[in-house]
Amino acid sequence: MDIHSWSQPELVRVRHLELDLDVRFDRKILEGSVTLHFDPTTEPQLVLDTRDLEIHSVENAAGFELGARDPILGSPLRIRLSPGAGWVRVRYSTTPAATGLQWLDPPQTAGKRYPFLYSQSQAIHARSWIPLQDSPGVRITFEGRVRVPSGLHAVMAAERAGEHFRMQHPVPSYLIALAAGDLEFRPLGERSGVFAEPALLDAAAREFADTEAMMRAVEEMYGPYRWGRYDLLVLPPSFPFGGMENPCLTFATPTILAGDKSLVSLVAHELAHSWSGNLVTNATWSDFWLNEGFTVYLERRIIEKVYGPAREQMEASLGRRELDREMASLPEADRVLHLNLEARDPDDGCTLVPYEKGALLLRTIEREVGRERFDAFLRSYFDHFAFQSITTADFLDYLRRELPTAIPLEDWIFKPGVPPDAADPHSGAFALVEAAATRWRQGHAIETGHWTTQEWLHFLRVQENPEMARLDRDFHFSQTGNSEILHQWLLMSVRAQYEPAYPALEHFLCTVGRRKFLKPIYTELMKTSEGRERARRIYRHARAGYHHIAQATIDALTA
Ligand code: BES
Ligand code: ZN
Repeated sequence: MDIHSWSQPELVRVRHLELDLDVRFDRKILEGSVTLHFDPTTEPQLVLDTRDLEIHSVENAAGFELGARDPILGSPLRIRLSPGAGWVRVRYSTTPAATGLQWLDPPQTAGKRYPFLYSQSQAIHARSWIPLQDSPGVRITFEGRVRVPSGLHAVMAAERAGEHFRMQHPVPSYLIALAAGDLEFRPLGERSGVFAEPALLDAAAREFADTEAMMRAVEEMYGPYRWGRYDLLVLPPSFPFGGMENPCLTFATPTILAGDKSLVSLVAHELAHSWSGNLVTNATWSDFWLNEGFTVYLERRIIEKVYGPAREQMEASLGRRELDREMASLPEADRVLHLNLEARDPDDGCTLVPYEKGALLLRTIEREVGRERFDAFLRSYFDHFAFQSITTADFLDYLRRELPTAIPLEDWIFKPGVPPDAADPHSGAFALVEAAATRWRQGHAIETGHWTTQEWLHFLRVQENPEMARLDRDFHFSQTGNSEILHQWLLMSVRAQYEPAYPALEHFLCTVGRRKFLKPIYTELMKTSEGRERARRIYRHARAGYHHIAQATIDALTA
């Protein structure tokens, strides 16, 4: 039972979709049809999820009715079925209000000459651009035809088959994805490549050069990559996430193009979802930690294999600290792994808890049973539940049967906070950074020439009452081209009211739409009256460039 869907898949279950869409940049709408196939049934009706769609007609049905709009769930589309029917076709168009689509004007792109469109369906935004059973417990195969104005290219997260796209594995609706713009392709290896605007293609190909090595690393541990190709698509900077694991085609923010591969754990993460998430999927949004906790665990294993243990230890250690920091600001109910999302938008459950606390649970199990046994367990878990959507209870049953331990699983999953006997990531490199930070505070010069992004982040995060001007003079943080370091620096600048960084702050907020960056900065600004004024003034300019999802978050913060 999924409280975030109107559909009743236990009565009629859609198995396959045929999408046929025109991309109308002139009106910022998609227009066309979707044909939904299901097992022939004598049920009187099929219920689909929709939000802000215009339904023109339904073919091969005895009628339809669009129900009242719920602010979170949207409107149920109730289709009266003819007895024995096995398909219906809905003709529809989207509206510019579709929360699952962002339509960008040319100035918001790298090339500045062509418009851009991309979809973001997770968690429950697919219904704003396709009428369907929008629940992660319902898996479908699909085919898509997408028409775009000449000169532009459309891609879908699926296999390309001549003029159209096709997904032959059953996937949940939140993984259906589409993008269109001035896109070019560059191969990275046999099975992988990158799509980007021409201006970004070289940088993207250099940054993602280790993608094949990452694929081999996961395959050695957890079994074959089952999706054929693995490509990446670099989106404009307004993309509200770091990455999105759309099958065969990860969508990624350009803010990870650091020039030195230092932020590619995001690629490892989205690639890992090809096992945890896309192959074995959370059945409801309360089980989201099954997707993200497993994926962070796998991500770290990939990083360890491809870039070595020191890098992995630093990233795990950063994650552990950020988890504590975020948890301190969350209500107790949001510090548990299995979330109660009653009357809430599932996007609200997206904190570090499912990610980092989830990964920490798996790390703790690994410590208890040993890596070899845990890897064997994970591999069998992915095989056992392949192409299925499962609940937390399904996982617990399987774990208790296959790998009994003394770990207090109920506490981990249903109680707030991190249990006392949790694994404790440690980084030797960070101990050296802390020592260097102390020496620097005492007025000494320090040797930082070999520091990586992770070490710089840690250096900044351990500063108490930071001497902002001296930090900037010695290390030039206001000029860094690394988005993670810049974000950390700007956040500290707001806290310390360090005015020389304000032009960079304003520029950052007006060009980057990644919610993970925006939310902490706006939250910090809202803590003082001067900051509130600055936040609201900047947001007035910046808002139109943000995605609906980021707008909703920042609207609530700055209200
Ligand atoms: N699937 C998520 C993004 C997401 C989560 C979108 C919930 C909508 C609702 C993706 O895999 C993810 O976790 N992205 C992270 C990056 C990661 C390295 C932690 C992000 O966007 O920051
Ligand atoms: Zn993820």
